[in-house]
Amino acid sequence: MSKELTVIVLAAGGGTRMKSKTMKVLHPIGGRSMIGHVLVAAQALDPKQVVAVVGHQREAVGAHIHESFPDVVLAVQEEQHGTGHAVQMAVEAAAGMTGTVVVAYGDTPLLRGESLRDFADEHEAAQRAVSILSGIVTDPFGYGRVLRNDEGDVEAIVEEKDATAEQREVREINSGILAFDAEFLRRALPRIGNDNAKGEYYLTDTIAIAREDGLTVGAYAIDDVMQTEGVNDRVQLARIGAELNRRIVEGWMREGVTVMDPATTWIDADVVLGADVTILPGTQLLGATVVGEDAVVGPDTTLKDCEVGPRARVVRTQGELAVIGGDATVGPFSYLRPGTVLGARGKIGGFVETKNAVIGDGAKVPHLSYVGDAEIGEGTNIGAGTIFANYDGVRKHRTKIGKHARTASNNTFVAPVEIGDGAATGAGTVVRHDVPPGALAVSSGPQRDIEGWALTKRPGTAQAEAAEAALADGLGSGPDDARRVAESD
Ligand code: UD1
Ligand code: CA
Repeated sequence: MSKELTVIVLAAGGGTRMKSKTMKVLHPIGGRSMIGHVLVAAQALDPKQVVAVVGHQREAVGAHIHESFPDVVLAVQEEQHGTGHAVQMAVEAAAGMTGTVVVAYGDTPLLRGESLRDFADEHEAAQRAVSILSGIVTDPFGYGRVLRNDEGDVEAIVEEKDATAEQREVREINSGILAFDAEFLRRALPRIGNDNAKGEYYLTDTIAIAREDGLTVGAYAIDDVMQTEGVNDRVQLARIGAELNRRIVEGWMREGVTVMDPATTWIDADVVLGADVTILPGTQLLGATVVGEDAVVGPDTTLKDCEVGPRARVVRTQGELAVIGGDATVGPFSYLRPGTVLGARGKIGGFVETKNAVIGDGAKVPHLSYVGDAEIGEGTNIGAGTIFANYDGVRKHRTKIGKHARTASNNTFVAPVEIGDGAATGAGTVVRHDVPPGALAVSSGPQRDIEGWALTKRPGTAQAEAAEAALADGLGSGPDDARRVAESD
């Protein structure tokens, strides 16, 4: 039986080594803010309350937390007098804590909920006043060291700056994540002093305080220490970001996704992939993207907040807030902007840009087109090089094309305009008025040939010479031949 639980996430520090206008814990990594990862992990503890301590840029950090995690309570630490002081602020802001209190930091994006759960369970089972999530590392520099007596019992944590040369040899470090009995924490916090190298109130002093009171303390070493690693600068941000991605990609491969080149595949934490999805090299699946079973995505594709249906094929495509139906094909070199919805078995082909475009089941826009603010009915085929002229210079307008229509190459649809079900257009048509169902719209005039034009208007050029030679050979001389050539196209 787990006790009632509170999680405190510390995020008041400045993060100056990021050298950024953006507060450290707000930097995105794997599609979430750094603190977002920690707050998601905290959910695994099924906490009664989560308190985030904010200080530096507290408006920005607070607004972000409020928007993404509305249940999280914000505690303000105006000046950063140390982790003990920060937790004091959290206790004051919280609505009466009982049971267990887990303290974590907002800059450890690899932290997993299961690890917090195991740690809290172990803490509660051992009935300790305070437990340390520790780790054994090769280079303990900068960390608080876990000091044990000859019996191996934990006695204290000493910070790097306050440690003796001998203590600095200790390779068991405090990850920063601690679990407390709430009653003990409340009593211990006012007893923490700041007589140390940094002149700060160290939360870690609670270990020695518990020992003084004859209470049980202990450390639980996490095997995967990297989960507790904090990000302090942008070099670490990239390294931890790559590690997070490596873990996510590996996780999906274990779930039955084929990833041809994990090194060039980036998958955000909130992406969901179906069974037997194949991801080809150079692909980024970002945000809340969902890919259905047996779909193939890539190579060289970036999809953000997109939905890809089962068995769809998406090649060399840039997409955002787009829906791609099952068995549909997209690419290569397609640009799907927000509001694109491609139906089942539909096609968006090479060099096609779409925006606010609902393209029906089995409908196709195969080549070189811009489809903006449009609705295309099922089974309709849009000819190569078609422009949906949606913008009159002031306002955007919609184009609606019915079912099973056939529009020819190099058309312009001047919105607002409607083309009926089963209608057609001729090549080069500029559609300015609605086309009734089943009609053929043609706007370009009949072809006129001015005989011998090249010979009279471009004499002496290669063009004229070629024409002259062809005419001498008796090729394509008369108007009938011209018509025949046009019709056979
Ligand atoms: C702290 C621990 C150390 C541990 C290490 C792990 C203490 C005294 N030391 O050291 O034992 O090995 O973390 O990384 O706890 N913060 C606040 N308000 C403050 C001070 C800090 O919110 O007044 C936040 C920071 O934003 C940060 C976290 O607490 O997220 C840790 O603070 P930091 O100053 O980095 O502590 P360390 O010196 O690294
Ligand atoms: Ca730190």
